[in-house]
Amino acid sequence: MKFNQSNIKKAKEYLDKNCCIGVPTETVYGLAANAYSNDAIQKIYKLKKRPKSNPLIVHYSNIDDLKKDCLINDNFIKLYKEFSPGPITYILYLKKNSKISKMVTNNKKNLAVRFPKHKIFRKLLNELHYPIAAPSANISTKLSAVRALDVKEDFGNKVKYILDGGKCNIGLESTIIDLRDKPVVLRLGGLEISKIEKILCKKIKININPKRKTASGQSRLHYSPGIPLRMNVVKPKKNEAYILLKKKRTYFSNYFYLSKKNNLKEAAKNLYSCLRKIKNKGYKSIAVEKIRSTGIGQSINDRLERASKF
Ligand code: TXA
Ligand code: MG
Repeated sequence: MKFNQSNIKKAKEYLDKNCCIGVPTETVYGLAANAYSNDAIQKIYKLKKRPKSNPLIVHYSNIDDLKKDCLINDNFIKLYKEFSPGPITYILYLKKNSKISKMVTNNKKNLAVRFPKHKIFRKLLNELHYPIAAPSANISTKLSAVRALDVKEDFGNKVKYILDGGKCNIGLESTIIDLRDKPVVLRLGGLEISKIEKILCKKIKININPKRKTASGQSRLHYSPGIPLRMNVVKPKKNEAYILLKKKRTYFSNYFYLSKKNNLKEAAKNLYSCLRKIKNKGYKSIAVEKIRSTGIGQSINDRLERASKF
Protein backbone atom coordinates (compact mmCIF):
# COMPACT_ATOMS: atom_id res chain seq x y z
CA MET A 1 0.00 0.00 0.00
CA LYS A 2 1.74 3.15 -1.20
CA PHE A 3 0.71 6.02 0.98
CA ASN A 4 2.05 8.61 3.32
CA GLN A 5 1.05 11.97 4.69
CA SER A 6 2.36 13.79 1.61
CA ASN A 7 0.02 11.78 -0.65
CA ILE A 8 -2.94 12.80 1.51
CA LYS A 9 -1.79 16.40 1.30
CA LYS A 10 -1.54 16.22 -2.47
CA ALA A 11 -4.99 14.65 -2.73
CA LYS A 12 -6.40 17.45 -0.60
CA GLU A 13 -4.78 20.06 -2.82
CA TYR A 14 -6.48 18.64 -5.91
CA LEU A 15 -9.86 18.39 -4.16
CA ASP A 16 -9.57 21.95 -2.81
CA LYS A 17 -9.09 23.09 -6.42
CA ASN A 18 -12.35 21.31 -7.37
CA CYS A 19 -10.54 18.56 -9.30
CA CYS A 20 -11.69 14.92 -9.34
CA ILE A 21 -9.31 12.29 -7.99
CA GLY A 22 -9.36 8.51 -7.56
CA VAL A 23 -9.73 7.30 -3.96
CA PRO A 24 -9.62 3.82 -2.44
CA THR A 25 -12.54 2.55 -0.38
CA GLU A 26 -13.08 -0.87 1.14
CA THR A 27 -15.72 -1.63 -1.54
CA VAL A 28 -14.46 -0.22 -4.87
CA TYR A 29 -12.40 2.82 -5.91
CA GLY A 30 -14.32 6.09 -6.05
CA LEU A 31 -14.07 9.12 -8.35
CA ALA A 32 -14.01 11.80 -5.67
CA ALA A 33 -14.90 15.50 -5.64
CA ASN A 34 -16.13 18.21 -3.26
CA ALA A 35 -19.84 17.52 -2.68
CA TYR A 36 -20.51 21.20 -1.91
CA SER A 37 -19.19 22.45 -5.27
CA ASN A 38 -21.26 22.47 -8.49
CA ASP A 39 -18.09 22.97 -10.46
CA ALA A 40 -16.43 19.85 -9.00
CA ILE A 41 -19.54 17.67 -9.30
CA GLN A 42 -20.05 18.60 -12.93
CA LYS A 43 -16.61 17.13 -13.65
CA ILE A 44 -17.57 13.75 -12.16
CA TYR A 45 -20.57 13.38 -14.49
CA LYS A 46 -18.51 14.39 -17.48
CA LEU A 47 -15.60 12.06 -16.75
CA LYS A 48 -17.83 9.08 -16.04
CA LYS A 49 -20.17 9.83 -18.97
CA ARG A 50 -22.93 9.44 -16.41
CA PRO A 51 -26.49 10.72 -16.99
CA LYS A 52 -27.17 13.75 -14.76
CA SER A 53 -30.36 12.05 -13.56
CA ASN A 54 -28.33 9.42 -11.70
CA PRO A 55 -27.50 10.80 -8.23
CA LEU A 56 -24.20 10.33 -6.36
CA ILE A 57 -23.26 8.92 -2.96
CA VAL A 58 -21.73 11.39 -0.51
CA HIS A 59 -19.02 10.17 1.88
CA TYR A 60 -18.65 11.54 5.42
CA SER A 61 -16.07 10.89 8.12
CA ASN A 62 -18.48 11.21 11.04
CA ILE A 63 -22.09 11.60 12.08
CA ASP A 64 -21.74 15.24 13.23
CA ASP A 65 -20.73 16.34 9.75
CA LEU A 66 -23.60 14.33 8.27
CA LYS A 67 -26.09 16.04 10.57
CA LYS A 68 -25.27 19.39 8.94
CA ASP A 69 -26.78 18.11 5.69
CA CYS A 70 -29.28 15.34 6.53
CA LEU A 71 -32.09 14.42 8.90
CA ILE A 72 -31.42 11.21 10.79
CA ASN A 73 -33.85 8.74 12.42
CA ASP A 74 -33.86 5.73 14.76
CA ASN A 75 -33.29 3.08 12.09
CA PHE A 76 -30.32 5.05 10.82
CA ILE A 77 -28.79 5.25 14.30
CA LYS A 78 -29.19 1.52 14.87
CA LEU A 79 -27.54 0.61 11.57
CA TYR A 80 -24.89 3.31 11.82
CA LYS A 81 -23.78 2.06 15.25
CA GLU A 82 -23.47 -1.48 13.97
CA PHE A 83 -22.14 -1.15 10.42
CA SER A 84 -20.51 2.23 9.88
CA PRO A 85 -17.85 2.82 8.85
CA GLY A 86 -18.41 0.03 6.36
CA PRO A 87 -20.06 -1.11 3.11
CA ILE A 88 -23.55 0.34 3.66
CA THR A 89 -25.13 3.45 2.09
CA TYR A 90 -28.19 5.12 3.62
CA ILE A 91 -30.79 7.23 1.81
CA LEU A 92 -31.91 10.08 4.09
CA TYR A 93 -33.82 13.35 3.73
CA LEU A 94 -31.71 16.39 2.99
CA LYS A 95 -31.99 19.35 5.33
CA LYS A 96 -33.35 22.56 3.77
CA ASN A 97 -30.16 24.47 4.57
CA SER A 98 -27.81 21.72 3.38
CA LYS A 99 -24.86 22.88 1.29
CA ILE A 100 -24.80 19.74 -0.92
CA SER A 101 -24.61 20.69 -4.60
CA LYS A 102 -27.99 20.27 -6.34
CA MET A 103 -26.15 18.34 -9.02
CA VAL A 104 -25.31 15.56 -6.56
CA THR A 105 -28.98 14.73 -6.03
CA ASN A 106 -30.42 15.81 -9.38
CA ASN A 107 -32.44 18.40 -7.41
CA LYS A 108 -34.10 15.76 -5.24
CA LYS A 109 -34.70 16.19 -1.51
CA ASN A 110 -32.90 13.03 -0.45
CA LEU A 111 -29.26 12.02 -0.30
CA ALA A 112 -27.30 8.75 -0.37
CA VAL A 113 -24.64 8.83 2.37
CA ARG A 114 -21.87 6.51 3.37
CA PHE A 115 -19.04 6.30 5.93
CA PRO A 116 -16.16 4.51 4.23
CA LYS A 117 -13.85 2.29 6.25
CA HIS A 118 -10.64 2.43 4.22
CA LYS A 119 -7.92 3.96 6.40
CA ILE A 120 -6.46 6.20 3.71
CA PHE A 121 -9.79 7.61 2.61
CA ARG A 122 -10.72 8.23 6.25
CA LYS A 123 -7.46 10.09 6.82
CA LEU A 124 -8.24 12.24 3.79
CA LEU A 125 -11.83 12.94 4.87
CA ASN A 126 -10.57 14.07 8.27
CA GLU A 127 -8.46 16.74 6.59
CA LEU A 128 -11.29 18.22 4.53
CA HIS A 129 -13.93 20.85 5.33
CA TYR A 130 -16.49 19.31 3.01
CA PRO A 131 -17.89 15.83 2.34
CA ILE A 132 -16.90 13.86 -0.75
CA ALA A 133 -19.23 12.80 -3.55
CA ALA A 134 -17.85 9.65 -5.14
CA PRO A 135 -19.41 7.26 -7.60
CA SER A 136 -17.49 4.14 -8.49
CA ALA A 137 -14.39 5.11 -10.49
CA ASN A 138 -15.35 3.58 -13.84
CA ILE A 139 -17.00 4.69 -17.06
CA SER A 140 -20.80 4.49 -16.64
CA THR A 141 -22.22 0.92 -17.02
CA LYS A 142 -18.73 -0.64 -17.21
CA LEU A 143 -16.77 -2.71 -14.66
CA SER A 144 -15.95 -1.04 -11.36
CA ALA A 145 -12.33 -0.47 -10.36
CA VAL A 146 -10.80 -2.34 -7.43
CA ARG A 147 -7.17 -1.24 -7.90
CA ALA A 148 -5.53 2.12 -8.63
CA LEU A 149 -4.38 0.58 -11.94
CA ASP A 150 -8.00 -0.07 -12.97
CA VAL A 151 -8.84 3.60 -12.47
CA LYS A 152 -5.85 4.54 -14.61
CA GLU A 153 -6.96 2.06 -17.28
CA ASP A 154 -10.42 3.69 -17.53
CA PHE A 155 -9.51 7.37 -17.27
CA GLY A 156 -5.84 7.68 -18.29
CA ASN A 157 -4.57 11.19 -17.67
CA LYS A 158 -8.04 12.65 -17.39
CA VAL A 159 -7.97 11.86 -13.69
CA LYS A 160 -5.04 13.90 -12.43
CA TYR A 161 -4.39 12.02 -9.20
CA ILE A 162 -5.15 8.61 -7.71
CA LEU A 163 -4.55 7.74 -4.08
CA ASP A 164 -3.28 4.17 -4.16
CA GLY A 165 -4.76 2.14 -1.33
CA GLY A 166 -4.05 -1.33 -2.67
CA LYS A 167 -6.72 -3.77 -3.80
CA CYS A 168 -10.18 -3.16 -2.29
CA ASN A 169 -10.91 -5.60 0.48
CA ILE A 170 -14.58 -6.25 -0.23
CA GLY A 171 -14.57 -5.77 -4.01
CA LEU A 172 -18.30 -5.11 -4.47
CA GLU A 173 -20.13 -1.79 -4.02
CA SER A 174 -21.94 -0.92 -0.81
CA THR A 175 -25.43 -2.20 0.01
CA ILE A 176 -27.91 0.69 -0.37
CA ILE A 177 -30.86 1.02 2.00
CA ASP A 178 -33.56 3.70 1.82
CA LEU A 179 -34.37 4.74 5.40
CA ARG A 180 -36.78 7.61 4.71
CA ASP A 181 -39.79 5.49 5.54
CA LYS A 182 -40.02 1.72 5.94
CA PRO A 183 -36.51 0.44 5.16
CA VAL A 184 -36.09 -0.79 1.56
CA VAL A 185 -32.90 -2.21 0.06
CA LEU A 186 -32.17 -0.58 -3.33
CA ARG A 187 -28.89 -2.31 -4.15
CA LEU A 188 -27.37 -5.58 -2.96
CA GLY A 189 -23.73 -5.17 -2.03
CA GLY A 190 -20.93 -5.67 0.42
CA LEU A 191 -23.14 -5.97 3.51
CA GLU A 192 -25.47 -8.97 3.71
CA ILE A 193 -29.19 -8.25 4.08
CA SER A 194 -29.56 -10.86 6.84
CA LYS A 195 -27.19 -8.83 9.04
CA ILE A 196 -29.31 -5.69 8.51
CA GLU A 197 -32.49 -7.62 9.29
CA LYS A 198 -31.00 -8.89 12.52
CA ILE A 199 -30.31 -5.36 13.76
CA LEU A 200 -33.69 -3.94 12.69
CA CYS A 201 -35.44 -7.11 13.94
CA LYS A 202 -37.58 -7.45 10.82
CA LYS A 203 -37.64 -8.68 7.25
CA ILE A 204 -36.53 -5.93 4.84
CA LYS A 205 -38.12 -5.33 1.47
CA ILE A 206 -35.77 -5.55 -1.49
CA ASN A 207 -36.46 -3.38 -4.54
CA ILE A 208 -33.44 -3.72 -6.77
CA ASN A 209 -35.11 -3.56 -10.19
CA PRO A 210 -37.25 -0.43 -10.14
CA LYS A 211 -39.52 0.16 -13.14
CA ARG A 212 -38.52 3.80 -13.40
CA LYS A 213 -35.09 3.82 -14.98
CA THR A 214 -33.95 6.92 -13.13
CA ALA A 215 -35.05 5.68 -9.70
CA SER A 216 -31.67 4.53 -8.49
CA GLY A 217 -29.46 4.06 -11.48
CA GLN A 218 -29.89 0.32 -11.09
CA SER A 219 -30.14 0.04 -14.83
CA ARG A 220 -30.35 -3.54 -16.02
CA LEU A 221 -27.12 -3.19 -17.95
CA HIS A 222 -24.36 -2.45 -15.48
CA TYR A 223 -21.00 -3.75 -14.35
CA SER A 224 -20.42 -4.87 -17.93
CA PRO A 225 -17.11 -6.35 -19.09
CA GLY A 226 -18.14 -5.38 -22.63
CA ILE A 227 -18.39 -8.98 -23.91
CA PRO A 228 -21.22 -11.53 -23.55
CA LEU A 229 -21.42 -13.37 -20.25
CA ARG A 230 -23.43 -16.53 -19.44
CA MET A 231 -24.21 -17.76 -15.93
CA ASN A 232 -24.74 -21.23 -14.39
CA VAL A 233 -22.61 -22.90 -17.05
CA VAL A 234 -21.56 -26.52 -16.53
CA LYS A 235 -19.47 -26.89 -19.66
CA PRO A 236 -17.88 -23.85 -21.37
CA LYS A 237 -17.62 -23.56 -25.14
CA LYS A 238 -14.27 -23.80 -26.86
CA ASN A 239 -12.39 -20.47 -26.69
CA GLU A 240 -14.68 -19.18 -23.98
CA ALA A 241 -13.23 -17.91 -20.68
CA TYR A 242 -14.61 -20.00 -17.82
CA ILE A 243 -14.90 -18.55 -14.32
CA LEU A 244 -15.01 -20.98 -11.41
CA LEU A 245 -15.45 -20.44 -7.71
CA LYS A 246 -12.84 -22.97 -6.71
CA LYS A 247 -9.48 -24.02 -8.09
CA LYS A 248 -9.53 -27.30 -10.05
CA ARG A 249 -6.69 -29.80 -10.08
CA THR A 250 -6.37 -29.92 -13.84
CA TYR A 251 -5.09 -26.84 -15.62
CA PHE A 252 -6.79 -25.23 -18.61
CA SER A 253 -5.56 -21.87 -19.88
CA ASN A 254 -9.12 -20.54 -20.27
CA TYR A 255 -10.07 -21.34 -16.63
CA PHE A 256 -10.13 -18.49 -14.11
CA TYR A 257 -10.65 -18.94 -10.38
CA LEU A 258 -12.37 -16.51 -8.01
CA SER A 259 -11.14 -18.22 -4.89
CA LYS A 260 -8.68 -20.86 -3.79
CA LYS A 261 -11.01 -22.63 -1.41
CA ASN A 262 -14.60 -22.04 -2.46
CA ASN A 263 -14.80 -18.91 -0.31
CA LEU A 264 -17.51 -16.39 -1.35
CA LYS A 265 -15.88 -13.37 0.34
CA GLU A 266 -12.65 -14.05 -1.54
CA ALA A 267 -14.68 -14.53 -4.72
CA ALA A 268 -16.36 -11.12 -4.28
CA LYS A 269 -12.98 -9.50 -3.78
CA ASN A 270 -11.65 -11.01 -7.01
CA LEU A 271 -14.74 -10.73 -9.22
CA TYR A 272 -14.16 -7.40 -11.01
CA SER A 273 -10.41 -7.90 -11.42
CA CYS A 274 -11.05 -11.37 -12.86
CA LEU A 275 -13.56 -9.99 -15.40
CA ARG A 276 -11.12 -7.22 -16.31
CA LYS A 277 -8.28 -9.71 -16.78
CA ILE A 278 -10.40 -11.88 -19.09
CA LYS A 279 -11.45 -8.89 -21.17
CA ASN A 280 -7.85 -7.65 -21.44
CA LYS A 281 -6.69 -11.08 -22.58
CA GLY A 282 -8.95 -10.66 -25.60
CA TYR A 283 -11.60 -13.33 -24.91
CA LYS A 284 -14.83 -12.81 -26.85
CA SER A 285 -17.19 -14.36 -24.28
CA ILE A 286 -17.35 -15.48 -20.66
CA ALA A 287 -19.05 -18.44 -18.99
CA VAL A 288 -19.46 -18.59 -15.22
CA GLU A 289 -20.17 -21.72 -13.21
CA LYS A 290 -23.13 -21.68 -10.81
CA ILE A 291 -22.35 -19.67 -7.71
CA ARG A 292 -24.40 -20.30 -4.57
CA SER A 293 -26.58 -17.39 -3.53
CA THR A 294 -25.88 -17.53 0.19
CA GLY A 295 -24.41 -14.52 2.00
CA ILE A 296 -22.43 -12.27 -0.31
CA GLY A 297 -23.04 -14.84 -3.08
CA GLN A 298 -26.39 -13.10 -3.59
CA SER A 299 -24.58 -9.83 -4.42
CA ILE A 300 -22.09 -11.62 -6.68
CA ASN A 301 -24.99 -13.14 -8.64
CA ASP A 302 -26.72 -9.75 -8.86
CA ARG A 303 -23.62 -8.24 -10.50
CA LEU A 304 -23.18 -11.21 -12.83
CA GLU A 305 -26.82 -11.03 -13.87
CA ARG A 306 -26.52 -7.35 -14.79
CA ALA A 307 -23.22 -8.01 -16.56
CA SER A 308 -24.96 -10.74 -18.57
CA LYS A 309 -27.47 -8.24 -20.05
CA PHE A 310 -24.80 -7.12 -22.53
O1 TXA B 1 -19.41 1.21 -2.54
C1 TXA B 1 -19.92 2.20 -3.06
O2 TXA B 1 -21.07 2.57 -2.81
C2 TXA B 1 -19.06 2.98 -4.07
C3 TXA B 1 -17.90 3.63 -3.31
C4 TXA B 1 -17.03 4.48 -4.19
O3 TXA B 1 -18.40 4.35 -2.24
N1 TXA B 1 -19.83 3.96 -4.76
C5 TXA B 1 -20.76 3.63 -5.70
O4 TXA B 1 -21.34 4.72 -6.32
O5 TXA B 1 -21.04 2.49 -5.98
P1 TXA B 1 -22.13 4.61 -7.73
O6 TXA B 1 -22.44 6.01 -8.07
O7 TXA B 1 -21.37 3.83 -8.69
O8 TXA B 1 -23.45 3.90 -7.33
C6 TXA B 1 -24.36 4.57 -6.52
C7 TXA B 1 -25.74 4.09 -6.72
C8 TXA B 1 -26.30 4.44 -8.09
O9 TXA B 1 -26.98 3.33 -8.58
C9 TXA B 1 -27.25 5.58 -7.78
O10 TXA B 1 -28.34 5.61 -8.66
C10 TXA B 1 -27.70 5.25 -6.38
O11 TXA B 1 -26.56 4.75 -5.76
N2 TXA B 1 -28.12 6.47 -5.63
C11 TXA B 1 -27.37 7.55 -5.36
N3 TXA B 1 -28.11 8.48 -4.71
C12 TXA B 1 -29.34 7.96 -4.56
C13 TXA B 1 -30.55 8.44 -3.99
N4 TXA B 1 -30.61 9.63 -3.40
N5 TXA B 1 -31.64 7.62 -4.05
C14 TXA B 1 -31.56 6.40 -4.61
N6 TXA B 1 -30.44 5.89 -5.17
C15 TXA B 1 -29.34 6.66 -5.16
MG1 MG C 1 -21.11 2.38 -10.09
